[in-house]
Amino acid sequence: MNVLNILRCPLCREMLAREGRTLRCSRGHCFDLAKEGYVNLLPPGKGKNARTGDEKDMLRARREFLAGGYYAPISDGIAALLARHLPAGETILCDSGCGEGWHTLRYTQKLAEGGFDRLLTVGFDASKYGAAAGMKNARQHGICCDIGTEADLQTYFFPGNLFSLPLADASLSAVVSMFAPVAAEENLRLLRSDGILLTAASGKEHLNEMRQLLYTDVHYTEKEPEYEGFTLADRETVRYTVLLPDPDTIRNLFMMTPFYYKTTTEGRERLYAENSLTVTVETELRVYRRSAV
Ligand SMILES: C[S@@+](CC[C@H](N)C(=O)[O-])C[C@H]1O[C@@H](n2cnc3c(N)ncnc32)[C@H](O)[C@@H]1O
Ligand SMILES: [Zn+2]
Repeated sequence: MNVLNILRCPLCREMLAREGRTLRCSRGHCFDLAKEGYVNLLPPGKGKNARTGDEKDMLRARREFLAGGYYAPISDGIAALLARHLPAGETILCDSGCGEGWHTLRYTQKLAEGGFDRLLTVGFDASKYGAAAGMKNARQHGICCDIGTEADLQTYFFPGNLFSLPLADASLSAVVSMFAPVAAEENLRLLRSDGILLTAASGKEHLNEMRQLLYTDVHYTEKEPEYEGFTLADRETVRYTVLLPDPDTIRNLFMMTPFYYKTTTEGRERLYAENSLTVTVETELRVYRRSAV
């Protein structure tokens, strides 16, 4: 397997070839390899509609929190659902909005250990810091991430806009979207006819204890998501409680949530006054297949 078989020029969608530290398409568009080994495939202009990506301190908060393993059961659930629904043989996965790829690397390794021995994973995020950190982590895990190399287990991270990814049509076995926007139309373009879309989203009770501290009136608005062109094929709820043992961990988790942007000073102070907090984690994992036409 070779990532160049599926990567495409983000400007003209032609194939890319590696020449030294540059990727070049037949029309002459060039993309340099950064020192971390990723290539910025989020060209100016084309990336206009992508969010600029999370700020560096948000990424730091998420990195520290995830490294604590508090969300490990979520990537375990993703790996189990992928193992159940992916056809055996060569597997190509795309993590769409992967952040620093903590979950991406985890479920990729679990699949590799579980017998998926020809496995190529690509992760895209609007943040180039995310891609750089992802590549560093992949190397530390001993996973090949040298663009253009033939290898059975490979993982790459790229800055990219998930609504317009530099990948070939019908190239993917699965798109994984964890707590990120879902680009249904783009995913339909990228998935093989037997490919799946797997999403992870907050469930009704997710971080309920944190919400109760932040807001005086907690109300739920849960709506079953629908993606045009896709039909729900399987779902699973990952639900458990976890102890956040200190104020830093509480704050890091808070910074990862949408609550961070919509909390009053009083709410924030109530949360920051806690020395530890037990929270419910509830994540809905959903598997979709292409709707019959
Ligand atoms: C809440 S974070 C989740 C990150 C990771 N999937 C996880 O579960 O740890 C959402 C991510 O989506 C990314 N994102 C948002 N809009 C995007 C876009 N249009 N293209 C690429 N990434 C995007 C953000 O930069 C951010 O890293
Ligand atoms: Zn090109």
